[in-house]
Amino acid sequence: MVTRVDNVAKIVLDTSYIDVKSATLAGQALKFTIAERHPHLGSALTLDLPEPIATAGTELQIKIDYATTEKCTAIQFLEPEQTVGQKYPYLFSQCQAIHARSFVPCQDSPSVKLTYSAAVTSPLRVLMSALETKSVENASNSTTTYHFEQRTTIPSYLIAIASGNLAGREIGPRSTDTESFIKTGEDLLTPYEWGRYDLLVLPPSFPYGGMENPCLTFVTPTLLAGDRSAVDVVAHEISHSWMGNLVTTRNWEHFWLNEGWTVFVERKIAGRLHGEAERQFSAIIGWKALKESVELFGENSPATVLKPDLSSGVDPDDYFSSVPYEKGFNLLYHIEKTVGGPEVFEPFMKAHVEKFASESVTTEQWKAFLYEFMEKHHGQAVVDKLNTIDFDLWINGTGMPPVDPEFDTTLADICYKLADRWDKARDSQDFTGFSPEDIKDMKADQKIVFLERLTDTKPMPHSLLAKMDELYHFTPIRNADIRFRWQQLCVMASYEPIYPHVVKFVTEQGRMKFVRPLYRLLHRATNGKELAEKTYLEHKKFYHPIAAQLIEKDMGLN
Ligand code: BES
Ligand code: ZN
Repeated sequence: MVTRVDNVAKIVLDTSYIDVKSATLAGQALKFTIAERHPHLGSALTLDLPEPIATAGTELQIKIDYATTEKCTAIQFLEPEQTVGQKYPYLFSQCQAIHARSFVPCQDSPSVKLTYSAAVTSPLRVLMSALETKSVENASNSTTTYHFEQRTTIPSYLIAIASGNLAGREIGPRSTDTESFIKTGEDLLTPYEWGRYDLLVLPPSFPYGGMENPCLTFVTPTLLAGDRSAVDVVAHEISHSWMGNLVTTRNWEHFWLNEGWTVFVERKIAGRLHGEAERQFSAIIGWKALKESVELFGENSPATVLKPDLSSGVDPDDYFSSVPYEKGFNLLYHIEKTVGGPEVFEPFMKAHVEKFASESVTTEQWKAFLYEFMEKHHGQAVVDKLNTIDFDLWINGTGMPPVDPEFDTTLADICYKLADRWDKARDSQDFTGFSPEDIKDMKADQKIVFLERLTDTKPMPHSLLAKMDELYHFTPIRNADIRFRWQQLCVMASYEPIYPHVVKFVTEQGRMKFVRPLYRLLHRATNGKELAEKTYLEHKKFYHPIAAQLIEKDMGLN
């Protein structure tokens, strides 16, 4: 919690693997110390002020001269050979959750909000999570200095930079899909505050599907599958323009307020634009992702709690999973149903943004305002309904949510039926009833649900996998989500013909959602352990430092 006090004599900032050369206040050198490193949290940088600042609210300008180091976890530097063009180097950052401190000394907590401006000199184009105000060419050394300003207050994890041989494409004022997502977000919530909305497609080693850097969402190139699979991620990142970027989690224990709300809004947008059946279908996919996370951690694991306890210095990256996303979504969805549906709940959602925009909030504040709003607008009757919800179990309990959501399976039924037919054929080995027609009319998401259903059964016989591939041509498919699900199903069965394709997939892109489970499964599969380790070690430099660290943990290499 941010409180301002008088007589401040020291300033403490977070750093991680940063080389501080000097610190000055109005030209005068400051004494500073760098504390011993905490394994995940880094080293506190303490600046001693010559004399205490008497009154809270006094502004002062401190200049820190520092360099990042080789060990910087926020930034990946790519050699020219690691880029598509092969000619120019590239760099990009990923600060969420606690990596900003390895890039800038700062109060690296989402409870603190800041505006920033930056002047960055580079021979290559620079972009930041801010508005570009001007760029000045330096004729003498053929560099350009790019100036940026982020005028809306943001948490430090939203500071972002990328530089390389970047090409821009103007795709409409805000492009058609993105425009309708933003418009729907504005209808549901408040006007879009950030001026611009740009998308930057990152190099393949970008470790996430998307990152909601303000003004400039970062996305993985695995979205460019030639189908419409990219749009969900974009709708998700746009939804963060309100949930997360305006109303921010107070600390990483309340991370679900960012992601659960964002998934909820993302699915509201999908529902408004494509109908309720689509929203229900996405929720079904989310439920399955949640189930996988709970199975991975174990149903009693503290990592499956909606509001986990991170006080012992847990690394938020270690707890990253579908839990905050999907348990969070399900809690909001359950509340919506309980209080009387969208007519009652959507106005609360808007009021939540209006009330907390530019603040950093806790689960307790969120809940108190939910009650306050419902009481004020709907009286005791709706408060009584809220009281039927076991909030403590939802928020602090482990494992799957306490209530079965009973999503509408209209779009999922054909996927389940087809999966059940294959499951039955495993014993008879009679595949005569199957043909490419089975999946011809399925959308990408339906193929995913079909494959996911099969990963829920015991490992498939190899003859069945071979037949399925012959009929459905899953192995060469470009859509990364389908490719992932297919490879997962095959590796679970130790189906060795897939191994070279898995190696190719996990070394040509570094999105953790795909590479971590595939490495984990390959490591456990028959004749897979050495292949997984060898593949990783040979391509270690390809991965972003955050991904590398987690893959190593997953395979017990560190
Ligand atoms: N903010 C997250 C990514 C993130 C979370 C990075 C925590 C670091 C720490 C982003 O908005 C996100 O959720 N991305 C998802 C997209 C999906 C849910 C549509 C991803 O990367 O898969
Ligand atoms: Zn998100």
